[in-house]
Amino acid sequence: MTEQAVKKIRKAVFPVAGLGTRFLPATKANPKEMLPVVDKPLIQYAAEEAAQAGIDVLVFIIGRNKRAISDHFDKAYELEAELEKSGKDEMLKQAQEILPNGVTCVYMRQAEALGLGHAVGCAESVIGDEPFAVILADDLVDNGSNGCMKQMVEQYEKLQASILGVQRVPQEHTKRYGIVGSEPYAERVEKVNTIVEKPDPAQAPSNLGVVGRYILSGKIFDEIKKTKPGAGGEIQLTDAIATLMAYEDVYAYEFEGIRYDCGNKLGYLQATVDLGLKHPELSEGFAEYLKGLNL
Ligand code: G1P
Repeated sequence: MTEQAVKKIRKAVFPVAGLGTRFLPATKANPKEMLPVVDKPLIQYAAEEAAQAGIDVLVFIIGRNKRAISDHFDKAYELEAELEKSGKDEMLKQAQEILPNGVTCVYMRQAEALGLGHAVGCAESVIGDEPFAVILADDLVDNGSNGCMKQMVEQYEKLQASILGVQRVPQEHTKRYGIVGSEPYAERVEKVNTIVEKPDPAQAPSNLGVVGRYILSGKIFDEIKKTKPGAGGEIQLTDAIATLMAYEDVYAYEFEGIRYDCGNKLGYLQATVDLGLKHPELSEGFAEYLKGLNL
């Protein structure tokens, strides 16, 4: 290996310690990342997207009430024994294949919900100084076998710098996102020169919104430690990225795929309808049902 060899993105951080208040009461005792879209919880879509990108260590930053997530990725002895006994081979296979082969899970506790930056900072001891991915499971991105993180890892191999997954958002929605100011760099790639957390539409540097996909340099941990509470009184990842930019390049990548904001009820329903219509067992019957509604 030469000194210049590109460091591989092997680890992904999944901040899952949020309270999920927008989905109460569904999220009172259950994490929002366990909400199912058709037949898989959001966190599983995110884990599969990471594995598809070649990532083999999944680092979950969990809070209280998040045992369901570690249980979901754990071996379910009783369930497997029952399915085996009753000859439900297909279901058994599904239960056993939740975690792709060779993928390891690490669980770290974020004792207080102090913000996304703080949550990512909790992963430092596992990540060390390597570049790594961050995936927010409530942003579900559907793009078949060419997932969003896979595309970003390919970009990383060319750029060897931090990359933010972005998409154009309606100007009136800038207050929901980290928004970047940038200049064109390559096809679908912008070089970022400013980033602001949830600006008012009038102050937003553009309408390029960061969705929940990041590849970050290990230096981000130094910046997170220095970051003071920002928008909403939280330690924002966006603010740490802004200071990282003072000495490292940061790019924005307009990924291919449809992104559903499953952190809000409308986005969640849209994902359910679209993925339901694509589901091999359901598509026909579901399409018929929707047609019958005569909307
Ligand atoms: C977080 C980030 C924001 C980003 C968004 C994407 O906000 O702070 O910069 O645009 O995720 O979903 P949250 O949705 O957690 O408020």
